[in-house]
Amino acid sequence: MERILSGIKPTGKLTLGNYIGALRNFKNFQEQGECFIFIADLHALTLPIDPLELKTNSRDIAAFYLAAGLDPNKCNIFLQSHVSAHAELNAIMQNFLYMGELSRMTQFKDKSQKLNKEKIGLGLFAYPVLMASDILLYDATIVPVGEDQIQHVELTRDLAKRFNHRYGDTLIMPKAVVTKVGARIMSLSDPTKKMSKSDEKGDIFLKDDPKVIRKKIMSAVTDSESVVIYDVENKPGISNLLTIYASLKNITIPEAEKEFEGANYGTFKKAVADAVIEEIEPFQKRYQEIIASNYVDEVLNRGAEKAKSIANATLKRVHDVVGLL
Ligand code: TYM
Repeated sequence: MERILSGIKPTGKLTLGNYIGALRNFKNFQEQGECFIFIADLHALTLPIDPLELKTNSRDIAAFYLAAGLDPNKCNIFLQSHVSAHAELNAIMQNFLYMGELSRMTQFKDKSQKLNKEKIGLGLFAYPVLMASDILLYDATIVPVGEDQIQHVELTRDLAKRFNHRYGDTLIMPKAVVTKVGARIMSLSDPTKKMSKSDEKGDIFLKDDPKVIRKKIMSAVTDSESVVIYDVENKPGISNLLTIYASLKNITIPEAEKEFEGANYGTFKKAVADAVIEEIEPFQKRYQEIIASNYVDEVLNRGAEKAKSIANATLKRVHDVVGLL
C-alpha cells in the first residue's frame, strides 16, 4: 500500500500556486493509500515570524486542507510540532547530510541571498534535514509537491540510500509526484518568477476577495501579440495563464489553446478569472465555515495521535540500527 505524505509551511499567505501545485491535489491521494498531510510549523521558524501570525497561519492551513476536500477519516492531518519524533529524527539525520550538498539547495540559495551573511540561521541551512525527517518518519512512498520542492525530495532519497547502505534496509525510498499541469505557477506581474507567498502584486492569495482576484488577472503582464498559445520562452505571461486555466478545468494545455483560438487577450483573461473565481469562491466559503468552528483543533488532535504511533515506530527502528539503547 502507498503511504502519502506532504506538508505546507505556515508562513505568509497561501497563494494560487500553493493551491494548484499542492493543496488541490491532496484529496486525490487520500484514495490511493494511507495519507499524512501536515502543517510544517517548525519549518516556519527558519525565518523570523510573529508568534501570533504563526498560530493563525497554522490553523488556517488546517482549515484550508479541510476546505480542499481532505477527509480526516481518510487522511491524518496534524501539526509537525505535535509529533516530537520529527525533531528527534532530525537530530539523527543531520549527521548524514553534508554541508556541501545543503549549500547547493536552490531554496537555501534564494532565501539566504536576501540575508546578511553573518545572520543566516542554522535552521534555514539545515531545512532539508528536517524535511527529509518528515518524509522518512512515515515510510512515505509518494510525496506530492510543486516543482520547487523536488530537489529536497531528491536529497531525501540520497539520504535514505546513504543510510540504508550503512545500516541495512531501514528507510523507505520516497518519490516526489508533481501535478501534470501547474507544478510551477508564475507571478502575474513577472511571469519569469515563481508565484510566492511574499510577492504581493503578482500573487493571487487564497483569501483574496473575488473582485481583487479578477482585477489581478485582468492586469496580468502578457505580451504585445494577440495569440493565445503556449510558449514559455516568448510568451511567459500567456503560458502561465493557460496553465492556470487548464489545471483548474482539468484539461490539457493543447485543449486550452484550442478553446481560445482567435480570442483576444481580454476575452481570454476574463475566462481565466471566471475559472479561478468559480473554484476559489466555494473554497473560501467552506474555509469560513470551518475556521469559525472548533473542528480544526479536534482534527489536529486526532491526527497527531495517529501520526505519533507511526512516527515513533520508525524512530525506534532508527534508534536500534544506529546503536541508541
Ligand atoms: P511551501 O509551504 O513553500 O509550499 C507548499 C506547496 O506548494 C507548492 N508550491 C507551488 N506549486 C506550484 N506553483 C507555485 N508557484 C508554488 N509555490 C509553492 C510547493 O512546491 C509545496 O508543495 N518545504 C515545504 C514544506 C514541507 C514539506 C515537507 C513538503 C516541509 N516538509 C515534507 C513535503 C514533504 C515548503 O516549504 O512548501
